Amino acid sequence: MSATSKNLSVIILAAGNGTRMQSSIPKVLHRLAGQTLINHVLKNIEGVKAEEVILVLQKENQEQIESTLNQDCIIAIQKNQKGTGDAVRSGLEVANQANDILVLCGDMPLLSASTLSKFLGLVSSGASAVLTAVFNDPNGYGRILRDKNNSIHKIVEESDATPEEKHIQEVNSGVMLLRSAFVRKAINEITPENNQGEIYLTDLIEIAILQKHQFDAINCASEDEILGINNKRHLSVAEAYMRKDKTNALLDKGATIIDPARVDVRGDVSVGRDVEIDVDVIFIGNVSIGNNVKIGPFCILKDVSIADGSIIESHSSVDSAEIGSNCTIGPYARIRPGAKLEEGAKIGNFVEIKNSSIGKGSKVNHLSYVGDAEVSAGVNIGAGTVTCNYDGANKHKTIIEDNVFVGSGSMLVAPVTLKKGSTIGAGSTITKDAPSDSLTLERARQVTVDSWSRPTKEKK
Ligand code: UD1
Ligand code: CA
Repeated sequence: MSATSKNLSVIILAAGNGTRMQSSIPKVLHRLAGQTLINHVLKNIEGVKAEEVILVLQKENQEQIESTLNQDCIIAIQKNQKGTGDAVRSGLEVANQANDILVLCGDMPLLSASTLSKFLGLVSSGASAVLTAVFNDPNGYGRILRDKNNSIHKIVEESDATPEEKHIQEVNSGVMLLRSAFVRKAINEITPENNQGEIYLTDLIEIAILQKHQFDAINCASEDEILGINNKRHLSVAEAYMRKDKTNALLDKGATIIDPARVDVRGDVSVGRDVEIDVDVIFIGNVSIGNNVKIGPFCILKDVSIADGSIIESHSSVDSAEIGSNCTIGPYARIRPGAKLEEGAKIGNFVEIKNSSIGKGSKVNHLSYVGDAEVSAGVNIGAGTVTCNYDGANKHKTIIEDNVFVGSGSMLVAPVTLKKGSTIGAGSTITKDAPSDSLTLERARQVTVDSWSRPTKEKK
């Protein structure tokens, strides 16, 4: 069986009630490392290059799930939740009649593309097959019963297993390759005679044996990979597994991570050489980090690129921004979408930057808001400066040219331009453009009243 079969339809089962999740969100929409379970499964099967991917859903969840899929799927509806065998039957109704079927469960997000290809490559010609793994703790899974020739003769579900059968550690992953002619007939022969009153897909093994159709049980998956997410404990185990996997990839690239258990990668992160990542850092979406970048503790970085030598100090949030080389951000800075920092820019504590460019070597060191602004090179913006960009209806721009010095506590009422080399006196409210190379200030004159005494408390 080739791993890239044109005669293959994938059927992903996701119509179960997910009762054990104790949630009103459909099971496959729960998130793992920032991505829904179903999108993980869709990504893992990309390498199989099947002719079609069929997703079996309940009618009630169809719209909600369909709108979140990263890949086109054919949707099949299972009317009543009668079990995994019945779910596959619903899938077969819409599948290409001639195709063999690869069955997967929507709640198995960790199965790697390479294991899947390996499995497909090992199936005997013309045979159907189930992918198995040996578990330390097989509790909850269907057990693989093999005869003295080591051939599979049955899968027994946990709830139907005898105490002896429960000791078997080889389990059903839920992944099966089913030959077209066999499955289309056999699927209608499964009866719900078991403790759960369900139509078990796993009963196909016994039917195959009766019909002398070869059914392989191929043990080529690791326990970690075939974890099925049935409850929130499983979800947290999977999250820890993915976290480890993703932080290991960063460590392999040479990043120093103080505590890999305290870094979350919810997306794709690339790192250059000698990157240092402190504890409780969360990466979301696409993050690209250059050489010699340091990320302090408690930072959230989402869809951001950071060039060589920059430092993100603790408790900073950087979202959809472009950070040039040798910049310093934070501690406690908030860099919002559309921010672009040029080489050597410095953004200090309690500063918010939104949709603005900050030029080479410019500094906004304390307690300021810079929004919808173009700040050129060598600018110094004093503490507590606000670009007043919003008039209650529209947003306006503030332009600050090279080498401007803005005194602390200034309100820059946009649209306004501070020309090259201008200086703004502290505490000014600037509503008109400031000419270049001169001092502009807007302030009532300071007076001193000599013969003034402080009020005293009245006696009662
Ligand atoms: C199933 C297998 C078990 C295997 C385990 C692996 C059966 C009978 N049991 O058990 O042998 O070890 O997976 O994780 O096959 N689903 C439907 N419609 C239904 C019922 C289920 O679409 O009517 C879907 C679920 O959404 C889920 C998948 O099928 O994605 C498996 O169902 P679940 O209830 O999780 O089965 P398990 O008890 O885990
Ligand atoms: Ca399951």
